[in-house]
Amino acid sequence: MQGRSSWKEAAAEVKARLDIVDIIGEYVVLKRQGRNYVGLCPFHQEKTPSFTVSPERAVFYCFGCGAGGDVYSFLMRQEQLSFGEALERLAARAGVSLAAPAVAQAGAAHRELYAANEAAQALYHRLLQHPRLGREARAYLEARGLAPVEWERFGLGWAPERDVVAPLLKQKGFSEELLVQAGLVIRREDGKCRDRFRRRVMFPIYDRRGRVVGFGGRALGEEQRPKYLNTPETPLFQKGKLLYGLNWAQAEARRRGEIVLVEGYMDVLSAHCHGLTHVVGTLGTALTPHQAELVRSCAVRVVTSFDADTAGQSATWRGLDVLRDAGLRVWVAPLPQGYDPDRLVREQGAEALARLWREQAVPLLMYKLKQAREGHRLDYPEERAAVARELLPDIARLESPLERQEYMRYLAQELGLGEEALWAELKKLPKQDKKRRSRDNKTVGLLPARPQRRRAEEELLALMLEDRRYCAQIVGALGWDFFREERARKLATALRQWLEEHDEGSPDVVALIEQLGGDEEVAALAYELAVRDRAVFASVEDNIRNIRRSQLREEAHTLQQRLRSATGEESRRLLQRLVEVQRGLQQLVVPARERGEPNEGRSIE
Ligand code: UTP
Ligand code: MN
Repeated sequence: MQGRSSWKEAAAEVKARLDIVDIIGEYVVLKRQGRNYVGLCPFHQEKTPSFTVSPERAVFYCFGCGAGGDVYSFLMRQEQLSFGEALERLAARAGVSLAAPAVAQAGAAHRELYAANEAAQALYHRLLQHPRLGREARAYLEARGLAPVEWERFGLGWAPERDVVAPLLKQKGFSEELLVQAGLVIRREDGKCRDRFRRRVMFPIYDRRGRVVGFGGRALGEEQRPKYLNTPETPLFQKGKLLYGLNWAQAEARRRGEIVLVEGYMDVLSAHCHGLTHVVGTLGTALTPHQAELVRSCAVRVVTSFDADTAGQSATWRGLDVLRDAGLRVWVAPLPQGYDPDRLVREQGAEALARLWREQAVPLLMYKLKQAREGHRLDYPEERAAVARELLPDIARLESPLERQEYMRYLAQELGLGEEALWAELKKLPKQDKKRRSRDNKTVGLLPARPQRRRAEEELLALMLEDRRYCAQIVGALGWDFFREERARKLATALRQWLEEHDEGSPDVVALIEQLGGDEEVAALAYELAVRDRAVFASVEDNIRNIRRSQLREEAHTLQQRLRSATGEESRRLLQRLVEVQRGLQQLVVPARERGEPNEGRSIE
């Protein structure tokens, strides 16, 4: 850990020298609003600006999608960089020189896990080339049309029947525990460690920056199950956050502004081998918003090319909606029954597959319409209306009035329904369908009404995070445990710990979040509080009084409940306390200033 503080110091210095508004302003048009700047969030689709930057706190927060952080998190997310890379760029800009190891260390989270995966990949790859051990696997790959040069290119390998990773990587100094954590090795009940992958052709899975984060292992025979065994969820390998082949595909996808989504490992590799290099794989799962973001970072249009069977499944549909909700233009290129892209390209060549994607693809909504029509007997009015109702919510979501109108006309024509009647149905749809895509309605100036207690807690916490002098006043009056909301409590605990460890100053929000292990929910609250407009806060005194009142009311309520079943001495005690509590409540009605209590009326400055 030596030197750790040095890159942290460098990062802090860089941050202090740069203006977050300048940096973010290169990507987002920002307009001044009070002490903050606002603009359209680059991380989700929105029409009214809820993306807020606070130059004073050097953080940003989006009231729409909850994204938040400092200059580093912004750049990492916007440009898909590691922390080390973001630091490097900003340091250059700020004119701060970094010791080389500083960068390496900054990016070193999970370094050992990466190293283990890397070492396993190299080992599997060597075994594939082993004259005797790798023979069967080589024959398999050749039979599937993958030549040795492609094994190289895609890092393919072979996991033989017997254990190799457990013994050999241990020899290299990787601990059993780490190998288990990396998902490479399984600890059996008797405590012995065995390789997870045995007798499988190994497809390393890379993150977008080309680091091995996991594997898919293909069984050789039909009898071996499952057909593909994947790395379990690990800190590095989260299926919902990866797209297979994005590392190879992103440049071409950017160039074209389009990416093709297929299902399988082999589909990706075959396409790439045939020169179709803007292709990535979903790893056979339903698409997540995170994956949609990955796609969106390099393309505006997606063509999905799934097997006919998969295309009909509801999980697939939801996945496509996820892509659409991320603001992507989604097209569906259905494959002939019984084909996957791998088979099609091998049997009919690259041009046939490319043509299918180019000429057979239809917009998602049109595809949905076709599907819905096939599922209903359109000679009956009831069924035609059902198809219309199925599609109207999707039409309502269309951003462009022009498109909406065209689809309405088309739908009316296709189904032989009156256009006015369709519009009437459309108007009846709950608005929420349109808004669900983002929390767009929660714009900056218009915070949702919060229950008073929660609002008071949050406002006080915001001030405590800003300046330790507020802590003295607020904690003096209420203690540390007045937070009812879970996230606020966590944040307060972290703050308290920080204050105990540091004699002066106030914590950097980002550092505090790190201390909490990067809990995303808590982070969102922290950034939100940082950018929230103090001008609309109730006074510290009023907020404290509000919380006191709420606490006393709660206590009174509990006391009354307990009194019902209490007897004798206990009941007398409870009653006495209840009287005190009620007296306290009455006093709180009178503003503190008039009571002239020493602690409450005093402001900080
Ligand atoms: P498919 O069954 O369509 O396999 O699953 P495939 O890619 O065509 O495989 P080949 O051509 O027979 O080798 C599609 C994807 O679903 C995931 C894999 O990512 C696979 O590529 N999958 C499938 C699994 O993870 N486990 C399985 O057991 C099956
Ligand atoms: Mn296949």
